Amino acid sequence: MTDELHRVVYLSSATQGFPAEALEELLVGAREANARRGVTGMLIYHDGNFFQVLEGRKADVLETLDRIRADRRHAGMIMLENRPCRRSTFPDWSMGYRVLDELSQPQREGFFELARAANGDGTLELVRNTPIAVYLDSFLNSFREFEQA
Ligand SMILES: Cc1cc2nc3c(=O)[nH]c(=O)nc-3n(C[C@H](O)[C@H](O)[C@H](O)COP(=O)(O)O)c2cc1C
Repeated sequence: MTDELHRVVYLSSATQGFPAEALEELLVGAREANARRGVTGMLIYHDGNFFQVLEGRKADVLETLDRIRADRRHAGMIMLENRPCRRSTFPDWSMGYRVLDELSQPQREGFFELARAANGDGTLELVRNTPIAVYLDSFLNSFREFEQA
């Protein structure tokens, strides 16, 4: 099916400082481009690292990912997920943005667990012998209860 829902989740490292204005500018452009394609998702920036979820039709998500990957404002992309998914976690966000302080304590722990799981050498480790996908699923599912505004 060509319009199957697809999800990409990655971590990356910023190659430059990201003051609030730079993030805002990035988000404005991203939201506009994503809204045009029906791509949704969420971005977290913390301590020089990005965590991003992109959801939508496979072709749109992969085209967006290609553009983002080529962006020199970050590097060292580590893919946590790149596969079909059954339902969207962020159906109402053309690109939601969250700072860690706004997340619940379990969500913050989930975020750090994922960040730790990604080694500096760009490989993924198992977290306590459990596949990353299990932690990622529970982290993403925790957002379903959030009001998406
Ligand atoms: C961390 C990060 C996340 C981004 N997220 C998106 C996004 O969700 N959608 C998007 O269209 N562009 C996003 N961008 C911007 C793209 O990388 C790119 O600059 C923009 O789409 C313009 O691409 P173009 O110059 O090839 O037209 C992101 C960039 C960074 C560094």
